[in-house]
Amino acid sequence: MTEEAGKLEQIRDITRIDRIGAHSHIRGLGLNDALEPRHTSQGMVGQVQARRAAGIILEMIKEGKIAGRAILIGGQPGTGKTAIAMGMSQSLGTDTPFTAISGSEIFSLEMSRTEALTQAFRKSIGVRIKEETEIIEGEVVEIQIDRPVSEGGAKVGKLTLKTTEMETIYDLGAKMIESLTKEKVQAGDIITIDKSSGRSTKLGRSYTRARDYDAMGPQTKYVHCPEGELQKRKEVVHTVSLHEIDVINSRTQGFLALFSGDTGEIKTEVRDQISIKIAEWREEGKADIVPGVLFIDEVHMLDIECFSFLNRALESDMAPILIMATNRGITKIRGTNYTSPHGIPIDLLDRLLIVSTVPYDEKEMHKILAIRCEEEDVEMNEEALAILTKIGGETSLRYAIQLITASALTCRKRKGAEVEIQDIKRVYALFLDESRSSQFLKEYQKDFMFSEIQTDTDNSK
Ligand SMILES: Nc1ncnc2c1ncn2[C@@H]1O[C@H](COP(=O)(O)OP(=O)(O)OP(=O)(O)O)[C@@H](O)[C@H]1O
Ligand SMILES: [Mg+2]
Repeated sequence: MTEEAGKLEQIRDITRIDRIGAHSHIRGLGLNDALEPRHTSQGMVGQVQARRAAGIILEMIKEGKIAGRAILIGGQPGTGKTAIAMGMSQSLGTDTPFTAISGSEIFSLEMSRTEALTQAFRKSIGVRIKEETEIIEGEVVEIQIDRPVSEGGAKVGKLTLKTTEMETIYDLGAKMIESLTKEKVQAGDIITIDKSSGRSTKLGRSYTRARDYDAMGPQTKYVHCPEGELQKRKEVVHTVSLHEIDVINSRTQGFLALFSGDTGEIKTEVRDQISIKIAEWREEGKADIVPGVLFIDEVHMLDIECFSFLNRALESDMAPILIMATNRGITKIRGTNYTSPHGIPIDLLDRLLIVSTVPYDEKEMHKILAIRCEEEDVEMNEEALAILTKIGGETSLRYAIQLITASALTCRKRKGAEVEIQDIKRVYALFLDESRSSQFLKEYQKDFMFSEIQTDTDNSK
């Protein structure tokens, strides 16, 4: 097994696709056991208050008991709002559903906005279904398969299994024989047989046989002979999202829609039935709800209809934890003529816990840029990094991050070993940041197309 895992990793190493995304250096929130943020950890730098808050939210999610809470991360562009949400998602692990959408996304789907939001909500709620199966687990003492007496007759056989305490002989049917032969089960193997499906699985070889089988090769896994009864009850747990259950049960779509992503609208009746069924399962102890996280980035892009939907949806007992992010200040609520903080109606704001991010100081910016250089495999000398940090402070962190790749390219072009000040200078001159570009536009505005201020009548032409 370990050998197999080793091989798998080797293959992964070779085929690792080296694409680097905006947040690929973020590997978590970088908190210690007491949920206190370390200054620099898991790719995260500074922004300590917001990360501390995010840590508390994580704990809320892990408890799993609190549903329908909503958090807003507000702050200037490039202050790490999306990065923090990604860090949270990384720290949650695979068992808790995390869905990330952008506010504008729901306008481009071929379904109503509320349906798109409902699907996003239901993708973020996991249902942990418990199943109990009976298995037989033991060491094979003997396996005996008889040739069929007549032509075309079914094979029959006997299997002797033991634990440290008992030994039993089982009659084998054709299906079982097929399964055992396929697994190449032989005396000395430890196997489990699922009683309902008749499927057998090899766990490994018994330690007692370790000596006789030097010839087995290093990949053989040795396990102890099981103790106690041969028959055991085993609990199997599957986690699926409510949305997946919806899709599988909506007759028009079928499960194939899960792969194409083309799920369309799902009827309310289907959802109602599923909710009833799941409530039943919960009562019988067969299923648990795992509230996950729905992250809506650029939340100011939602309109008034969506916001009122969110208000309502948060009150359902199967709601996930909602995290939103925005960089807008006081602005118009989409779909109305009213302005409101963050472009979010007051009644929704009232239900939110608001976390704010603050701009980075020079030291933090320096550290983030250094981490990005490492992530992009760019060697940059200290002076160049210092200049880049200065540029970042005067323009924006994002612009400075972009210059890393560009300067590495100019450095490679002149066959340099590491990025130096000259490379940074060169790309700084080649690529404008936002403020220099606006300055340029102001100066040369008359030379551009469509730059005259248009009247309404002009637009309608
Ligand atoms: N504290 C941090 N530690 C490490 N990297 C960071 C940190 N904050 C931001 N970054 C990186 O800086 C870049 C910009 O940050 P991010 O995209 O999270 O900003 P944002 O607040 O979401 O901005 P916007 O409002 O424009 O969406 C990203 O590449 C991000 O990974
Ligand atoms: Mg963002």
